[in-house]
Amino acid sequence: MNSRRRFLTLSALGSLTGIGSHQTFGQSKHVKGPIIISTWKTGLRANDRAYEVLQNGGSVLDCVEKGVNVIENDPNNRTVGIGGFPDVEGNVTLDACIMDQRQRCGSVAFLQHIKNPVSVARKVMENTKHVMLVGEGALKFALEQGFKKEMLLTEETLAAWKKRKVEVGKKLPEINIENHDTIGMIARDADGNLSGSCTTSGAGMKLHGRVGDSPIIGAGLYVDNDIGGAAATGWGEAVIENAGSAMVVELMRHGRSPQEACEEIVKRIANKFEDWRSIQVGFIALNKAGQIGAFSIRKGFTYAHHHGGANSEKPADSLLKEG
Ligand code: GLY
Repeated sequence: MNSRRRFLTLSALGSLTGIGSHQTFGQSKHVKGPIIISTWKTGLRANDRAYEVLQNGGSVLDCVEKGVNVIENDPNNRTVGIGGFPDVEGNVTLDACIMDQRQRCGSVAFLQHIKNPVSVARKVMENTKHVMLVGEGALKFALEQGFKKEMLLTEETLAAWKKRKVEVGKKLPEINIENHDTIGMIARDADGNLSGSCTTSGAGMKLHGRVGDSPIIGAGLYVDNDIGGAAATGWGEAVIENAGSAMVVELMRHGRSPQEACEEIVKRIANKFEDWRSIQVGFIALNKAGQIGAFSIRKGFTYAHHHGGANSEKPADSLLKEG
Protein backbone atom coordinates (compact mmCIF):
# COMPACT_ATOMS: atom_id res chain seq x y z
CA MET A 1 0.00 0.00 0.00
CA ASN A 2 1.41 3.44 -0.83
CA SER A 3 2.10 5.67 2.13
CA ARG A 4 -0.72 8.14 1.45
CA ARG A 5 -3.30 5.35 1.19
CA ARG A 6 -1.94 3.69 4.32
CA PHE A 7 -2.12 7.02 6.15
CA LEU A 8 -5.74 7.52 5.07
CA THR A 9 -6.69 3.98 6.11
CA LEU A 10 -5.16 4.38 9.56
CA SER A 11 -6.67 7.85 10.00
CA ALA A 12 -10.13 6.60 9.07
CA LEU A 13 -9.84 3.69 11.49
CA GLY A 14 -8.55 6.01 14.19
CA SER A 15 -11.48 8.40 13.84
CA LEU A 16 -13.93 5.51 14.05
CA THR A 17 -12.37 4.05 17.13
CA GLY A 18 -11.18 7.11 18.98
CA ILE A 19 -7.55 6.04 19.01
CA GLY A 20 -5.26 8.57 17.42
CA SER A 21 -1.75 7.22 17.64
CA HIS A 22 -0.56 3.93 16.26
CA GLN A 23 2.62 1.97 16.40
CA THR A 24 3.54 0.40 13.08
CA PHE A 25 5.63 -2.72 12.69
CA GLY A 26 8.26 -0.68 10.92
CA GLN A 27 8.78 1.37 14.05
CA SER A 28 8.39 -1.41 16.58
CA LYS A 29 11.25 -3.10 18.34
CA HIS A 30 11.80 -6.73 17.43
CA VAL A 31 12.03 -9.03 20.42
CA LYS A 32 14.28 -12.01 19.71
CA GLY A 33 13.77 -15.66 20.67
CA PRO A 34 10.74 -17.79 21.49
CA ILE A 35 7.88 -16.09 23.34
CA ILE A 36 4.90 -17.79 24.94
CA ILE A 37 1.96 -16.03 26.58
CA SER A 38 -1.09 -17.59 28.16
CA THR A 39 -4.04 -16.52 30.25
CA TRP A 40 -4.17 -16.55 34.04
CA LYS A 41 -1.74 -17.91 36.61
CA THR A 42 -2.35 -21.47 35.38
CA GLY A 43 -0.57 -20.29 32.24
CA LEU A 44 2.74 -20.55 34.12
CA ARG A 45 2.70 -24.34 34.14
CA ALA A 46 1.39 -24.44 30.59
CA ASN A 47 4.16 -22.10 29.42
CA ASP A 48 6.85 -24.19 31.09
CA ARG A 49 5.69 -27.30 29.27
CA ALA A 50 5.25 -25.39 26.00
CA TYR A 51 8.80 -24.06 26.21
CA GLU A 52 10.13 -27.54 26.99
CA VAL A 53 8.42 -28.82 23.83
CA LEU A 54 10.11 -26.12 21.75
CA GLN A 55 13.48 -26.80 23.38
CA ASN A 56 13.13 -30.48 22.52
CA GLY A 57 12.63 -29.70 18.85
CA GLY A 58 8.82 -29.61 18.78
CA SER A 59 7.01 -27.25 16.46
CA VAL A 60 5.23 -24.13 17.66
CA LEU A 61 1.98 -26.02 17.04
CA ASP A 62 3.16 -28.88 19.30
CA CYS A 63 4.12 -26.26 21.86
CA VAL A 64 0.65 -24.65 22.10
CA GLU A 65 -1.08 -28.03 22.16
CA LYS A 66 1.12 -29.76 24.75
CA GLY A 67 1.33 -26.60 26.87
CA VAL A 68 -2.42 -26.35 27.48
CA ASN A 69 -2.73 -30.17 27.80
CA VAL A 70 -1.05 -29.76 31.20
CA ILE A 71 -4.02 -27.77 32.47
CA GLU A 72 -6.59 -30.00 30.75
CA ASN A 73 -5.03 -32.96 32.59
CA ASP A 74 -5.21 -31.31 36.01
CA PRO A 75 -8.31 -32.56 37.89
CA ASN A 76 -7.96 -29.70 40.36
CA ASN A 77 -8.47 -27.03 37.71
CA ARG A 78 -12.18 -26.23 37.68
CA THR A 79 -12.46 -24.59 34.28
CA VAL A 80 -10.52 -26.72 31.82
CA GLY A 81 -10.50 -30.43 30.89
CA ILE A 82 -10.97 -33.09 33.56
CA GLY A 83 -12.38 -31.53 36.73
CA GLY A 84 -13.98 -28.72 34.74
CA PHE A 85 -17.19 -27.41 36.29
CA PRO A 86 -20.32 -29.01 34.78
CA ASP A 87 -23.30 -27.43 33.11
CA VAL A 88 -26.66 -26.94 34.81
CA GLU A 89 -27.54 -30.61 34.24
CA GLY A 90 -24.27 -31.90 35.69
CA ASN A 91 -22.49 -32.70 32.40
CA VAL A 92 -18.91 -31.62 31.76
CA THR A 93 -18.84 -30.33 28.19
CA LEU A 94 -15.61 -29.01 26.72
CA ASP A 95 -14.77 -26.49 23.99
CA ALA A 96 -11.35 -25.95 22.37
CA CYS A 97 -9.57 -24.84 19.25
CA ILE A 98 -6.10 -24.56 17.79
CA MET A 99 -4.62 -22.52 14.93
CA ASP A 100 -1.23 -22.71 13.27
CA GLN A 101 1.18 -20.60 11.24
CA ARG A 102 -0.32 -21.85 7.99
CA GLN A 103 -3.74 -20.39 8.82
CA ARG A 104 -5.05 -23.90 9.42
CA CYS A 105 -7.43 -24.37 12.32
CA GLY A 106 -9.37 -27.07 14.12
CA SER A 107 -12.07 -26.92 16.73
CA VAL A 108 -14.37 -29.03 18.88
CA ALA A 109 -17.36 -27.86 20.87
CA PHE A 110 -19.77 -29.44 23.33
CA LEU A 111 -17.43 -32.43 23.58
CA GLN A 112 -18.00 -34.82 26.47
CA HIS A 113 -15.84 -37.58 28.04
CA ILE A 114 -12.51 -36.62 26.41
CA LYS A 115 -10.14 -34.70 28.64
CA ASN A 116 -7.95 -33.17 25.90
CA PRO A 117 -10.30 -31.34 23.54
CA VAL A 118 -7.47 -29.23 22.13
CA SER A 119 -5.76 -32.39 20.89
CA VAL A 120 -9.00 -33.54 19.29
CA ALA A 121 -9.24 -30.09 17.67
CA ARG A 122 -5.76 -30.61 16.24
CA LYS A 123 -6.82 -33.96 14.79
CA VAL A 124 -9.85 -32.25 13.19
CA MET A 125 -7.44 -29.77 11.63
CA GLU A 126 -4.94 -32.36 10.44
CA ASN A 127 -7.02 -35.42 9.65
CA THR A 128 -10.26 -34.02 8.19
CA LYS A 129 -11.19 -31.43 5.62
CA HIS A 130 -13.32 -29.65 8.23
CA VAL A 131 -12.63 -27.03 10.87
CA MET A 132 -15.18 -27.79 13.57
CA LEU A 133 -16.89 -30.85 15.02
CA VAL A 134 -19.44 -30.73 17.83
CA GLY A 135 -21.17 -32.96 20.36
CA GLU A 136 -21.74 -36.62 19.52
CA GLY A 137 -19.93 -36.28 16.20
CA ALA A 138 -16.87 -34.84 17.89
CA LEU A 139 -16.91 -37.63 20.47
CA LYS A 140 -17.26 -40.32 17.77
CA PHE A 141 -14.37 -38.77 15.85
CA ALA A 142 -12.20 -38.56 18.98
CA LEU A 143 -12.77 -42.25 19.78
CA GLU A 144 -11.95 -43.19 16.19
CA GLN A 145 -8.72 -41.21 16.53
CA GLY A 146 -7.77 -43.25 19.60
CA PHE A 147 -8.72 -40.88 22.44
CA LYS A 148 -9.90 -42.57 25.63
CA LYS A 149 -13.40 -42.04 27.02
CA GLU A 150 -13.17 -40.87 30.62
CA MET A 151 -15.33 -39.62 33.45
CA LEU A 152 -14.55 -35.88 33.57
CA LEU A 153 -16.77 -35.13 36.56
CA THR A 154 -14.68 -35.57 39.70
CA GLU A 155 -16.05 -36.15 43.21
CA GLU A 156 -15.13 -32.57 44.07
CA THR A 157 -16.85 -30.99 41.07
CA LEU A 158 -19.93 -33.15 41.60
CA ALA A 159 -20.14 -31.99 45.23
CA ALA A 160 -19.57 -28.36 44.21
CA TRP A 161 -22.23 -28.68 41.47
CA LYS A 162 -24.82 -30.11 43.92
CA LYS A 163 -24.16 -27.23 46.31
CA ARG A 164 -24.37 -24.61 43.58
CA LYS A 165 -27.53 -26.11 42.12
CA VAL A 166 -29.30 -25.67 45.42
CA GLU A 167 -28.07 -22.07 45.53
CA VAL A 168 -28.94 -20.97 42.01
CA GLY A 169 -31.54 -23.50 40.84
CA LYS A 170 -31.79 -23.38 37.05
CA LYS A 171 -30.89 -19.73 36.69
CA LEU A 172 -28.18 -18.78 34.25
CA PRO A 173 -24.69 -18.69 35.75
CA GLU A 174 -23.43 -15.71 37.62
CA ILE A 175 -21.31 -13.70 35.23
CA ASN A 176 -18.21 -13.18 37.24
CA ILE A 177 -14.49 -13.49 37.24
CA GLU A 178 -14.32 -16.90 38.94
CA ASN A 179 -16.64 -18.42 36.39
CA HIS A 180 -14.15 -18.02 33.54
CA ASP A 181 -10.57 -18.95 33.41
CA THR A 182 -10.24 -20.50 30.06
CA ILE A 183 -6.65 -21.05 29.07
CA GLY A 184 -5.62 -19.37 25.84
CA MET A 185 -2.02 -19.52 24.62
CA ILE A 186 -0.15 -17.74 21.83
CA ALA A 187 3.43 -18.72 21.02
CA ARG A 188 6.11 -17.58 18.62
CA ASP A 189 9.09 -19.81 17.94
CA ALA A 190 12.70 -18.75 17.33
CA ASP A 191 11.98 -18.47 13.58
CA GLY A 192 9.08 -16.08 14.21
CA ASN A 193 6.26 -18.53 13.44
CA LEU A 194 3.06 -18.25 15.46
CA SER A 195 0.43 -20.68 16.69
CA GLY A 196 -2.31 -20.51 19.31
CA SER A 197 -4.66 -22.67 21.35
CA CYS A 198 -7.66 -22.18 23.57
CA THR A 199 -9.46 -24.70 25.82
CA THR A 200 -12.20 -24.53 28.46
CA SER A 201 -15.08 -26.25 30.20
CA GLY A 202 -16.94 -22.99 29.70
CA ALA A 203 -19.11 -21.09 32.09
CA GLY A 204 -20.05 -23.15 35.14
CA MET A 205 -23.83 -23.89 35.31
CA LYS A 206 -24.21 -22.97 31.64
CA LEU A 207 -27.30 -24.31 29.88
CA HIS A 208 -26.85 -27.80 28.45
CA GLY A 209 -25.69 -27.38 24.87
CA ARG A 210 -24.23 -23.90 25.34
CA VAL A 211 -21.01 -23.23 23.45
CA GLY A 212 -18.85 -20.26 24.36
CA ASP A 213 -16.22 -18.29 22.49
CA SER A 214 -13.29 -20.63 23.10
CA PRO A 215 -13.82 -23.01 20.15
CA ILE A 216 -14.96 -20.25 17.80
CA ILE A 217 -12.14 -19.24 15.46
CA GLY A 218 -11.96 -15.45 15.55
CA ALA A 219 -13.73 -15.18 18.90
CA GLY A 220 -11.73 -17.15 21.51
CA LEU A 221 -8.61 -17.39 19.34
CA TYR A 222 -7.15 -16.02 16.16
CA VAL A 223 -3.68 -16.26 14.62
CA ASP A 224 -2.33 -14.70 11.47
CA ASN A 225 1.31 -15.60 10.98
CA ASP A 226 1.97 -12.34 9.13
CA ILE A 227 0.61 -10.24 11.98
CA GLY A 228 0.19 -11.91 15.38
CA GLY A 229 -2.25 -13.81 17.55
CA ALA A 230 -4.81 -13.14 20.26
CA ALA A 231 -6.82 -15.20 22.72
CA ALA A 232 -9.76 -14.35 24.94
CA THR A 233 -11.01 -15.30 28.37
CA GLY A 234 -14.19 -14.35 30.15
CA TRP A 235 -17.87 -14.14 29.26
CA GLY A 236 -17.86 -15.88 25.89
CA GLU A 237 -21.13 -14.42 24.63
CA ALA A 238 -19.66 -10.90 24.71
CA VAL A 239 -16.51 -12.10 22.95
CA ILE A 240 -18.47 -13.87 20.20
CA GLU A 241 -20.70 -10.85 19.63
CA ASN A 242 -17.62 -8.78 18.85
CA ALA A 243 -15.47 -11.40 17.07
CA GLY A 244 -12.96 -10.47 19.78
CA SER A 245 -9.68 -12.18 18.96
CA ALA A 246 -9.96 -11.64 15.21
CA MET A 247 -10.57 -7.95 15.85
CA VAL A 248 -7.50 -7.68 18.09
CA VAL A 249 -5.40 -9.20 15.30
CA GLU A 250 -7.05 -6.96 12.71
CA LEU A 251 -6.18 -3.86 14.72
CA MET A 252 -2.58 -5.06 14.94
CA ARG A 253 -2.63 -5.46 11.16
CA HIS A 254 -3.58 -1.79 10.96
CA GLY A 255 -0.66 -0.75 13.10
CA ARG A 256 -1.87 -0.94 16.69
CA SER A 257 0.49 -2.42 19.24
CA PRO A 258 -0.84 -5.59 20.95
CA GLN A 259 -1.60 -3.52 24.05
CA GLU A 260 -3.53 -0.88 22.10
CA ALA A 261 -5.44 -3.57 20.24
CA CYS A 262 -6.47 -5.45 23.41
CA GLU A 263 -7.57 -2.19 25.05
CA GLU A 264 -9.59 -1.07 22.08
CA ILE A 265 -11.53 -4.33 21.77
CA VAL A 266 -12.23 -4.53 25.51
CA LYS A 267 -13.57 -0.95 25.31
CA ARG A 268 -15.66 -1.83 22.26
CA ILE A 269 -17.17 -4.79 24.14
CA ALA A 270 -17.87 -2.57 27.14
CA ASN A 271 -19.58 -0.05 24.86
CA LYS A 272 -21.83 -2.64 23.31
CA PHE A 273 -22.61 -5.04 26.18
CA GLU A 274 -25.32 -3.52 28.32
CA ASP A 275 -24.35 -5.20 31.57
CA TRP A 276 -20.60 -4.95 30.95
CA ARG A 277 -19.71 -4.01 34.52
CA SER A 278 -20.93 -7.39 35.74
CA ILE A 279 -18.81 -9.50 33.37
CA GLN A 280 -15.16 -10.18 32.90
CA VAL A 281 -13.54 -10.28 29.47
CA GLY A 282 -9.78 -10.28 28.91
CA PHE A 283 -7.48 -10.60 25.92
CA ILE A 284 -3.84 -11.47 25.47
CA ALA A 285 -2.02 -10.68 22.24
CA LEU A 286 1.41 -11.21 20.72
CA ASN A 287 2.57 -9.70 17.46
CA LYS A 288 5.10 -10.91 14.94
CA ALA A 289 7.71 -8.54 16.38
CA GLY A 290 7.35 -10.22 19.79
CA GLN A 291 5.51 -7.41 21.55
CA ILE A 292 2.77 -8.46 23.94
CA GLY A 293 -0.45 -6.94 25.22
CA ALA A 294 -3.16 -7.81 27.75
CA PHE A 295 -6.24 -5.97 28.97
CA SER A 296 -9.52 -6.82 30.70
CA ILE A 297 -12.77 -5.25 31.81
CA ARG A 298 -12.29 -5.97 35.50
CA LYS A 299 -9.23 -5.93 37.68
CA GLY A 300 -7.73 -9.30 38.52
CA PHE A 301 -6.93 -10.73 35.09
CA THR A 302 -3.38 -12.00 34.90
CA TYR A 303 -1.33 -13.70 32.23
CA ALA A 304 1.85 -15.72 32.08
CA HIS A 305 4.75 -14.53 29.92
CA HIS A 306 7.67 -16.77 29.00
CA HIS A 307 10.64 -15.16 27.32
CA GLY A 308 14.42 -15.40 27.55
CA GLY A 309 14.23 -18.34 29.94
CA ALA A 310 12.02 -16.46 32.45
CA ASN A 311 8.39 -17.28 33.08
CA SER A 312 6.33 -14.87 35.15
CA GLU A 313 2.75 -14.00 35.99
CA LYS A 314 1.82 -10.41 35.16
CA PRO A 315 -1.28 -8.39 36.02
CA ALA A 316 -3.19 -7.02 33.05
CA ASP A 317 -4.39 -3.44 33.13
CA SER A 318 -8.18 -3.12 33.23
CA LEU A 319 -11.02 -0.78 32.37
CA LEU A 320 -12.53 -0.97 35.85
CA LYS A 321 -10.02 -0.53 38.58
CA GLU A 322 -11.91 -2.87 40.92
CA GLY A 323 -12.30 -6.65 40.57
N1 GLY B 1 -14.62 -17.98 27.65
C1 GLY B 1 -15.16 -19.21 27.97
C2 GLY B 1 -16.60 -19.32 27.85
O1 GLY B 1 -17.31 -18.33 27.88
O2 GLY B 1 -17.07 -20.42 27.74
